[in-house]
Amino acid sequence: MSQIDEFYGSFIDGRMASATGADIFESYNPANGEVLTTIQAGGAAEVDEAVASAKAAFPAWRDMPGVEKGRILLAISEKIKENTDRLVALESLDNGKSRMDAQFDVMTSARYFEYYAGVADKLAGETIPLGETHISYTRSEPFGVTAHIVPWNAAFQQAARGVAPALVAGNTAVVKPAEDTSVTTVELAKIALEAGLPPGVLNVVTGLGKDAGASLVSHPGVGRVTFTGSVPTGQEIMRASAEHLNPLTLELGGKAPNIIFEDAPIEAAIRGSLMAININAGQVCAAGSRLLVHRSLHDEVVDGLVELNRKVVLGPGTSDATMGPITTAAQYQKVQEYLQIGKDEGAQVAIGGNVATGEGLEGGQFIEPTIFTGVDNSMRIAQEEIFGPVLSVIPFETEEEAVAIANDTKYGLTAGLWTQNLGRAHRVAAQIEAGQVSVNDFFAGGIQAPFGGYKQSGFGREKGMHAVSEYLQTKTVSMKLS
Ligand code: NAI
Ligand code: MG
Repeated sequence: MSQIDEFYGSFIDGRMASATGADIFESYNPANGEVLTTIQAGGAAEVDEAVASAKAAFPAWRDMPGVEKGRILLAISEKIKENTDRLVALESLDNGKSRMDAQFDVMTSARYFEYYAGVADKLAGETIPLGETHISYTRSEPFGVTAHIVPWNAAFQQAARGVAPALVAGNTAVVKPAEDTSVTTVELAKIALEAGLPPGVLNVVTGLGKDAGASLVSHPGVGRVTFTGSVPTGQEIMRASAEHLNPLTLELGGKAPNIIFEDAPIEAAIRGSLMAININAGQVCAAGSRLLVHRSLHDEVVDGLVELNRKVVLGPGTSDATMGPITTAAQYQKVQEYLQIGKDEGAQVAIGGNVATGEGLEGGQFIEPTIFTGVDNSMRIAQEEIFGPVLSVIPFETEEEAVAIANDTKYGLTAGLWTQNLGRAHRVAAQIEAGQVSVNDFFAGGIQAPFGGYKQSGFGREKGMHAVSEYLQTKTVSMKLS
């Protein structure tokens, strides 16, 4: 593979670790099982170094005028765009994303830095009216070093999602990418340095969650933690953060309901609902994995979905395929287990239901895009996050019932609803227990829109101006006028 280096190590204080003597593990290509590159298995020592570097860089970065910070973030955005083709290829190889999904991620990452660059010189406090005798105002101040634990399903994009608002708020950052997808996060640190970000402002420690990740979130030098991933790991990180009373943003996945009402724009609903589950082979926290369909439209919708699913082309992200493999070996196993669980629970397979094999798929972790019908919301395939291209279709009769089914889940990240009735759209949107609701679309919230969970999908908000607030703490200064 010409585009990919033989080794990616921790990137600390503007330098990448050398391969010589480094503890390493292999990262492979999920589309064919071949080893792609080697990754440094960083641990407590690298975390110490990275946090020290971020701490040292903090005062100067915090005090740099906003306009200058903004110019650097904008330069990072531009550099990401210049490197689009290379980054798309790397993310496709390492994560398995289809070219379209990888392109979307790289473009989105560039947008994060562009969006937050524009914020840099517009952050301000408020004045508090204490009366004639006092003057009082707030200052928004960074925490210091922020830690970012990133999962493997959208490595580059999720690193950018956390780092850009953390940096614009004046923090310095240490990122721990997922062990399966470290390549583009290290590339991001390199690109940022080339774009003029001072060394130490953005550091990356590669390695396993139980080593590098656990060391980072429990490090006394860290002031704030952002994590995206599974509920159990989120809980563990929350416990570790209690030690230093560090505030957290936790984004822990979902089981999003996507509701097609009897008055839905049907063609758009079918297309949008399939996109909502098939994007990134279903490895998306916000995926619309439970499709609630009004009984009168059930067969028409299922037929439409099946027909569209037949057109999905599985293959490596580096080909013209429209769906790539499952990124990690463990996840590939997990999705297969859920295919079996669904069959055992008595759901019907409308299409798919198996691992995908055949020409061009040899050695890869491919799953047939699957639609289960006859699903009851109490089944495990309706309650548990599968994180693969597996859709559960659940019929309903009334709006009330649809809302009840939609909310009958421990998760609450996103939701979709399809209707031409304005009153219903806003009424149901208000009743849904989720951090983000799209109407007549799915994933309608762009990077400007606050994103985060209700219930066990976590707390804190990423994206938009809300993310900047998460990375700032408020200080009130009051003075007596005598
Ligand atoms: P995970 O939550 O264990 O891993 C996510 C990240 O956390 C990785 O970077 C990992 O190295 C790190 N990590 C693991 N243990 C840690 C610890 N003790 N301290 C600090 N960092 C630690 O998720 P995993 O095992 O890869 O996937 C399991 C399931 O989680 C998936 O099947 C899916 O359902 C869900 N998931 C949800 C995501 C989301 O976007 N919310 C993303 C990835 C997975
Ligand atoms: Mg990989």
